Amino acid sequence: MKLDHPALVKLLQKAYSGEKAAAFAYIGHARSLRDPAAKVAVRQIEADEWKHRENVLGLMRRYDVPVSRWLEVKLHIIGRVISASCHVIGRFMPFFFAGKLESGNVCEYFVMMRHFHSLGIREHDAMLYEMGMKEKEHEVYFLGQIKASRLMPIFQRIFSWGPGNAANDVDLENRQPMEDSAGYCKGDKEERDGKGK
Ligand SMILES: [Fe+2]
Ligand SMILES: [Fe+2]
Repeated sequence: MKLDHPALVKLLQKAYSGEKAAAFAYIGHARSLRDPAAKVAVRQIEADEWKHRENVLGLMRRYDVPVSRWLEVKLHIIGRVISASCHVIGRFMPFFFAGKLESGNVCEYFVMMRHFHSLGIREHDAMLYEMGMKEKEHEVYFLGQIKASRLMPIFQRIFSWGPGNAANDVDLENRQPMEDSAGYCKGDKEERDGKGK
């Protein structure tokens, strides 16, 4: 079955390649860390991203969505550059930008769920819910590593992410059940970008 939904097709391609960029970035990030516990945590997050990429590929195969060669190349390079830069930009910035990125990624999977619903497809809800929540866990982990840093206030002001300042409306302590989770991220950038295309 082909998906008659350009915004969903685009979002699947973006998420698929984006997961690779994230996984690459976390390889460098984990290597740059000295604290063994943080190393293990970031390696686990890397493994989560590879799993997400596999899940998204499964959806793409199922609906005949081609992998975007352009996004694959572009995000490969971005991932590698970030990975390498983790060794030279200190401890704070890799955690900060990882957290900001994860904060944006949370909505990808809830918007994706909503797009599937618009086609009457609900069978992927559990997987999409799981992935969206996992991205939120990643965001919360990264935030926890740096929220007390003296650099946080200035970075939060410039880049609009930090304590109490997420790019999504998911609250892990008070999470919506799966059945209601398509209500998350209403009016999100991913959704606005897809409109009219
Ligand atoms: Fe992911
Ligand atoms: Fe993530």
